[in-house]
Amino acid sequence: MTERLGPGDVARAAALLRQGALVAFPTETVYGLGGDATNGQAVAGIFAAKGRPHFNPLICHYPDAEAAFADVRADDRARRLAERFWPGALTLVLPRRPDCRVDLLAGAGLDTLAVRVPAHPLAQELLRQAGVPVAAPSANRSGQVSPTTAGHVLEGLSGRIGAVLDGGPCPVGVESTVLDLTGAGPVLLRPGGVEAEAIEALLGPVGRALPITAAAQTQSLRSPGLLLSHYAPSLPVRLRAENVAPDEALLAFGPPLPGAALVWNLSETGDLREAAARLFAGLRWLDAEGAKRGCARIAAMPVPEAGLGAAINDRLARAAAPRA
Ligand code: TXA
Ligand code: MG
Repeated sequence: MTERLGPGDVARAAALLRQGALVAFPTETVYGLGGDATNGQAVAGIFAAKGRPHFNPLICHYPDAEAAFADVRADDRARRLAERFWPGALTLVLPRRPDCRVDLLAGAGLDTLAVRVPAHPLAQELLRQAGVPVAAPSANRSGQVSPTTAGHVLEGLSGRIGAVLDGGPCPVGVESTVLDLTGAGPVLLRPGGVEAEAIEALLGPVGRALPITAAAQTQSLRSPGLLLSHYAPSLPVRLRAENVAPDEALLAFGPPLPGAALVWNLSETGDLREAAARLFAGLRWLDAEGAKRGCARIAAMPVPEAGLGAAINDRLARAAAPRA
């Protein structure tokens, strides 16, 4: 049985984490599936509950930068980014310190570690009370759409995890931006909740990992989570739709195309923040309702690439990618 906890139960959630149980919790981006990152069994449990390949490393969560930088070596760039964007939707990949407390399996055996300080007040409280680094991938079965509500978490993981801490819908709605700082120049591994433009305004030019369609193979070596097919609803997804067929469910952005069987509008006014926050709930809803009504696929209208649009388009490209 998976316990359903509320905002008044943070102490219970923290106790469960310290005992080695798995607890899903809200962050400002998506719900994370948390486990004590120093406890090898808890970490192994995360991979098992998600059905996640062991070569795909997890992000470790901390209440503040000081705690995070006790486990990784922060350089000047990392400290400036932390100052500007933490707590928030930015994950930094940095070299592990020799005395890093995090279990090697959490980092998939790499000598680097991804660290993040989430801003959500319940996540903050939970991480403080837990007192250990918390490894937390998105709280979905591997390859499926990330959860932005406690209900989404239970759809995929009910009975497989100890508890879910319900903090309502996640305000950002797409995962954190993942930035690799282990090389000479910073490299964007995953566009996310902090816009690449804002990072470049602070650090100067940021390298881009190869486009997923070009080299999924190569890419997967650098950041194994950037596998091609991900966020996959059960219905196929058609991108950049400029018209819509009567048997299609429409993921709209701005004024919707006429004639769809079913419409979820990411943002009627074309607001990218609103669109990011509504993306995963929309994919889930169109998938479930579309299947009920016999829809053949989901058609997604184009979303501009600037700002949060980069993260939205990245998730849509993966949702549409050929399935393994
Ligand atoms: O917003 C988020 O980041 C959410 C919340 C829960 O914090 N977490 C999340 O975790 O999205 P996950 O596991 O779904 O995605 C983590 C991404 C993966 O693409 C993984 O490959 C990459 O970060 N990653 C983790 N550790 C890495 C490392 N040491 N080097 C390169 N990439 C890494
Ligand atoms: Mg994920």
